[in-house]
Amino acid sequence: MTNVELEKEFHKRFNREPERIFFCPGRVNLIGEHIDYNGGQVMPCAITSGTWLVLAHNADSVLRFECINFPENASIRLQSSYSKTGKEWFNYPLGMIDQLLQEGHAISGLDMLFYGNLPIGAGLSSSASIEVLTGFAFSEVFRLGITPKEIALLGKKVENEFIGVNSGIMDQFAVAMGKKDKAILLNCDTLEYEYIPFEIGEYVLAIINSNKQRTLAESRYNERFAECGAALKILRQEIEADFLCDITPEEFNSKKYLISDPVLQKRALHVVTENERVKQATIALKGGDLKQFGALMYASHQSLKELYEVSGKELDAIVDFCKTYPGCIGARMTGAGFGGCAIALIKKDGFKDFEAKLTEYYSGKVGYAPQVFASAIGGGVREEPFLKPH
Ligand code: GLA
Repeated sequence: MTNVELEKEFHKRFNREPERIFFCPGRVNLIGEHIDYNGGQVMPCAITSGTWLVLAHNADSVLRFECINFPENASIRLQSSYSKTGKEWFNYPLGMIDQLLQEGHAISGLDMLFYGNLPIGAGLSSSASIEVLTGFAFSEVFRLGITPKEIALLGKKVENEFIGVNSGIMDQFAVAMGKKDKAILLNCDTLEYEYIPFEIGEYVLAIINSNKQRTLAESRYNERFAECGAALKILRQEIEADFLCDITPEEFNSKKYLISDPVLQKRALHVVTENERVKQATIALKGGDLKQFGALMYASHQSLKELYEVSGKELDAIVDFCKTYPGCIGARMTGAGFGGCAIALIKKDGFKDFEAKLTEYYSGKVGYAPQVFASAIGGGVREEPFLKPH
């Protein structure tokens, strides 16, 4: 949908003129998976698909939520705090509004229409996108003066405290701070970050949605979070570390005997080696060595599959196909896993062929088709130009 169409839709639903329009992207993570809540470095980038919010003030002291993607609407009176009610989509913006209230910010009534073109719950951070979008729009509309980085941190609190997922800071940071054609190298402990030019020349970044519905993703994610905490606790008997990512692969190897549970040992091994891969991937990308970068993507996937056990037959089928495809130099699942999306680096001129052959292979293996698209790297959350005079 174009901005003008969104503005028209707002008018149709609320029978009044909208005032402003905001956009927040989704993200993919190039490498560094299940690393953010372990205090290491990740390398996400914002994409050009995302979520829009068209809004206008109202004098009714009511927050009205409508969404083009979902039939459920809500009309909620202004209160001093909110809590999660059910599983409806508006809990995400409501969680952000609750954070703003907890921070002591003053807000008033708004009519809001949301729309997104990200596949929902597919690992492209549709939830971080709508959280950060809401925080940014409220900060602008009510002149709250909150920086995008602070909004990202509030978004993490929404996930952790309001929604109940122990996720890290990566997604919210990426969608708040993304930059066109740049990967973000983010230290998830200190929040120091660096933009790295994502120059892939004759290649394109393909996003492949497995179309596998994620089941029990939240509880399995929290399980991994707990397993990492348990492994760290054991290792801290002999190693000084605040996070698993403070431990080098060598140190880990010399102390891994402390962990008697083989499952916990595998989880920790993924984390320490994946963190190391991000360092190597940074060197490869800065040095223009895309083949090496691609090899690290494959290694990351292997580790997520075998050690962290968050892949699945759908994501594995995609990566297996990529390994045999001559125009592909690297592929991996991206995001939390348990279904969702994979990414791949594909020769530009062979993209159509890749799409057709992968679709055929995947449909044969899995029983339904994936969705394959070439993605551009876009900017972070922002206000969009308003196209109709108001
Ligand atoms: C989800 C979480 C992130 C991160 C990834 C895995 O996207 O929201 O914080 O942990 O999974 O890397």
